[in-house]
Amino acid sequence: MKKVGNHNSISRNLILSLALMLTISLTSFAQDAAPVTAAPATDVAATPAAAPAAGGDAVKGKELFNANCAACHKLDAKATGPALRGVANKYDMAWIYKWVNNSSELIKSGDAKAVKIFEEYNKSVMTAFPQLSTADIDNIIAYTSEVKPEAPTGMQISNGGLQAKDENSISNNVILGFLVTVMLLLIVMLFLVYNMLNRIAASKGLEIPKKDNSLLSVWRAFARNQFLVLVSSIFLLLASGYFVYGYLSQIGVDQNYAPIQPIHFSHRIHAGSNGVDCKYCHSAARVSKNAGIPSLNVCMNCHKNIAEVADTTATPEYSKAFYDGEIQKLYTAVGWDKSTQKYTGKTKPVKWVRIHNLQDFVYFNHSQHVSVAGIECQKCHGEVQTYEIQKQFAPLTMGWCIDCHRKTDVKMEGNAYYDKIHKELSKKYGVDKLTAAQMGGLECGKCHY
Ligand code: HEC
Ligand code: HEC
Ligand code: HEC
Ligand code: HEC
Ligand code: HEC
Ligand code: HEC
Repeated sequence: MKKVGNHNSISRNLILSLALMLTISLTSFAQDAAPVTAAPATDVAATPAAAPAAGGDAVKGKELFNANCAACHKLDAKATGPALRGVANKYDMAWIYKWVNNSSELIKSGDAKAVKIFEEYNKSVMTAFPQLSTADIDNIIAYTSEVKPEAPTGMQISNGGLQAKDENSISNNVILGFLVTVMLLLIVMLFLVYNMLNRIAASKGLEIPKKDNSLLSVWRAFARNQFLVLVSSIFLLLASGYFVYGYLSQIGVDQNYAPIQPIHFSHRIHAGSNGVDCKYCHSAARVSKNAGIPSLNVCMNCHKNIAEVADTTATPEYSKAFYDGEIQKLYTAVGWDKSTQKYTGKTKPVKWVRIHNLQDFVYFNHSQHVSVAGIECQKCHGEVQTYEIQKQFAPLTMGWCIDCHRKTDVKMEGNAYYDKIHKELSKKYGVDKLTAAQMGGLECGKCHY
């Protein structure tokens, strides 16, 4: 390599500043990551005794609230029980733990506050929740302590899908931000070093031939230094490789896909609050390949008599008027006139947007999993009875199917067909229980046409 002017000191300075910059950016990255790893620790710490409600996780709390409390409590309106927003200001946490774990016991013990609220609500008994830990209750209370959101509109449904996607891209955004910061720091450092060298040269009375503008010469100094060029190319290659891989592995995976449906149909209200069995509507799941979407006749079995939702069904997000409007859409679709209680004959089919959709070359059969294997719908579709908006819970990738086949034992009891196969195969593998994989659940032809 031909030596040019200040080359040696330039490259030494550049390497030094690169090292400095890397340390700075790495520590800031570590700070980004820190709260994530620290989170479980605070969870554990919250368990003993009266931790402040602010320590809870409102997101987990919302889930717990919807699953356990929403049947009787709303945040901002009286239902079977009182509105719960801000309840932490009314009682201390120790009282709330006792109340939620077993309110009757607290009332029996003669606790004045407990007796008072019990009388106020005409002595209706609140379910006991001994299974909820203090940490769970902290989470619920954190949720009920959230500030009320701005006046909501029905349009909020459209957020469902977007929110879900946002969660996935957070980590990508952190990394992207990190890379951009590194690049910016690199440019700034180079510029500073160049200026500093100029100043040193000036103070020593050296004359530097001014050929081109400064940015260009910084770039030249950079381009001449083979080490720096090598390091940056490797860095850029790794970074782009990471993004390309991430992008490619997302193709065709629609986890959390939650489209807006023509009628806002809430599984939370039907399968959750009203406890309608999944198989009442998706009756085909037991006996055939497809679970199917119920026809509108099935809806009308109930909805001939249900034209409105109860006042208590409205949530801060969705008003009663909004829900009633959605039931009206059902009536318009089947051609039901609710004033005369007769069908008009004018129908307009509802085009539900299909959410789950395996590739055409994959064979998946519901009855095999639901009836033969006895797997709960929730295992593959998530806690559907809490979904206000239906979504795709599982990734539906080949790895997902295979993983479960490796881990799940085949249900043998009461299945004569399996008795003989079981004996033979368990001898072959030398085990008592057989996984779906050992029964042939990894054979390509079983899942691929
Ligand atoms: C079966 C209906 C029901 C369920 C489910 C229920 N509650 Fe209650 N809750 C009530 C009733 C009714 C009251 C009023 C007191 C009474 O009559 O016992 C109440 C009162 C309360 C109070 C006191 C509120 C106040 O303003 O004084 C708190 C706190 C509370 N519930 C928390 C919860 C939590 C947390 C859950 C879920 C884990 C839950 N409740 C689930 C019915 C219910
Ligand atoms: C009252 C009828 C009804 C009940 C009960 C019901 N569903 Fe549904 N389900 C529907 C309708 C209508 C749709 C289509 C609209 C939508 O996606 O929200 C649907 C959609 C779905 C989908 C998405 C289908 C797709 O397009 O990929 C799944 C998964 C599902 N239901 C699972 C369940 C499970 C699990 C339960 C029980 C916890 C259940 N459903 C209970 C009516 C019902
Ligand atoms: C087993 C009875 C039953 C069946 C079947 C049923 N519903 Fe409902 N539905 C209800 C009840 C009960 C409510 C009111 C709940 C309340 O007030 O808390 C309701 C509420 C609704 C609402 C307003 C709340 C929401 O989910 O947006 C809509 C819309 C609705 N149903 C549509 C449908 C459609 C579409 C079908 C058919 C796929 C259907 N229902 C099938 C019982 C049923
Ligand atoms: C072993 C996992 C698994 C279980 C258990 C399961 N499903 Fe599914 N479900 C799937 C897969 C995978 C798809 C996508 C099928 C496709 O696209 O061909 C699907 C699709 C659906 C659909 C969309 C319509 C259709 O038939 O393709 C509905 C509705 C549904 N499931 C409801 C249910 C209900 C209700 C239960 C419980 C009775 C249930 N599922 C149990 C995996 C499962
Ligand atoms: C939650 C666990 C679970 C998931 C997820 C799952 N399966 Fe299964 N699968 C089972 C079990 C358990 C059996 C064994 C059923 C039996 O007793 O025959 C089985 C059996 C099968 C069989 C029959 C195998 C044979 O030996 O005859 C096929 C085909 C199959 N699954 C396809 C799929 C596909 C395709 C997917 C993904 C879209 C999938 N499964 C996802 C649990 C699962
Ligand atoms: C338990 C069920 C199951 C078995 C067994 C299985 N596959 Fe798959 N396979 C799937 C599913 C589901 C997909 C769709 C994945 C997606 O859409 O992302 C898939 C996708 C594929 C693809 C397309 C590439 C892709 O990721 O989309 C190929 C190729 C493939 N499988 C080959 C095989 C071969 C070879 C075997 C035997 C060694 C096999 N599969 C066994 C369920 C299975």
